Amino acid sequence: MAILVTGGAGYIGSHTVVQLIDSGFDVIIIDNFINSTPEVLNRIHTITSKKIKCYNIDLLEKDKLKKVFSENNIEAVIHFAGLKAVGESVKRPLYYYHNNITSTLVLCEMMKEYNVKKLVFSSSATVYGSTENVPLKENSPLGATNPYGWTKLMLEQIFSDLHTSDSEWSIALLRYFNPVGAHESGLIGEDPSGVPNNLTPYITQVAVGKLSKVHVFGNDYDTEDGTGVRDYIHVADLANGHLKALDKVLTNPGINAYNLGAGKGYSVLAIIKTFEKVSGINIPYEITGRRPGDIAVSYADPTKARQELGWVAERTLEDMLRDSWNWQVKNKNGYNKS
Ligand code: NAD
Ligand code: UD1
Repeated sequence: MAILVTGGAGYIGSHTVVQLIDSGFDVIIIDNFINSTPEVLNRIHTITSKKIKCYNIDLLEKDKLKKVFSENNIEAVIHFAGLKAVGESVKRPLYYYHNNITSTLVLCEMMKEYNVKKLVFSSSATVYGSTENVPLKENSPLGATNPYGWTKLMLEQIFSDLHTSDSEWSIALLRYFNPVGAHESGLIGEDPSGVPNNLTPYITQVAVGKLSKVHVFGNDYDTEDGTGVRDYIHVADLANGHLKALDKVLTNPGINAYNLGAGKGYSVLAIIKTFEKVSGINIPYEITGRRPGDIAVSYADPTKARQELGWVAERTLEDMLRDSWNWQVKNKNGYNKS
């Protein structure tokens, strides 16, 4: 029996695939490399010494997806594949709704046809919308502020309806907070295309000399130093959360949402300072205006994941930033381009 990982060549998917292989699972990847590169597969091979079966297909291609299900004995699916750039989703909503939602409908139809009813889904803390009543619990009010966020919220609803229609489905909705860091080897990591939108890849690209300074989006929030506070989580801890959730869906039917966060918030300036400490590099920054759509504070209450999955984030902020830096130094221009 194999675990099908959609989007397994992506940032979080690749780290999860490594841990699945390390834990003895047979893994099959589906990825169309729209936001990743086949080089990731070579890197996973180097880390694990295992060659992974990967189908280069778009999840929207039903016939090709059917072939994957007919050729393999799939036990469960971990579904990472999706587009994730908030700004792009505002400009191209139909593209986002089609890629993220239609593809998931096609995947679920196929799972149903082949009686594979166990699923771990990449949701996001973005489903808490502009709620700032921290710490965020799984039953905090939900909402979305952009098409990307709506795709996650709508998919959570679709999965809930699916489970209502057939209680054999077993689904974990994993609401990630802010994933950072990389595999300790520095062989796999986050490789954003173009100028990074997220804070830590922006900082590492300043440190490596590709960008001149960090723009800190606002210092007039109601936080300790006025800059935005987020719950950063090491991608290896996040990957481990998927293995725990997989164990749960393999053994218990039901649908459950889990916050995967460290449960602690750090400000933008704290991230810059800690990065300077672990890298020994000075990071020039400038305070600019707030980024539209940003909220002041977001961090998780991860109690449910601890109690029901036996999962906690173990790595520190220093670990996250040291590993992000190690990845960036070893791959100045990301995969394929060094
Ligand atoms: P990523 O872009 O690195 O990985 C996603 C992978 O899915 C890519 O390899 C891409 O090529 C593939 N893909 C996209 N659409 C596809 C399609 N139609 N068919 C086949 N493959 C397709 O992103 P990531 O950071 O690893 O995120 C994984 C998941 O987690 C996404 O669903 C994302 O929305 C969600 N998420 C990410 C974050 C984050 O900060 N990285 C936070 C919350 C939630
Ligand atoms: C963003 C997305 C969110 C997505 C998450 C994935 C937006 C509005 N939200 O969250 O939907 O799930 O990424 O990790 O895009 N910052 C700077 N300068 C920068 C970049 C960021 O000051 O160049 C600040 C932000 O204002 C924020 C913090 O750093 O306070 C973290 O930002 P970012 O890494 O983009 O993550 P989120 O905004 O939390």
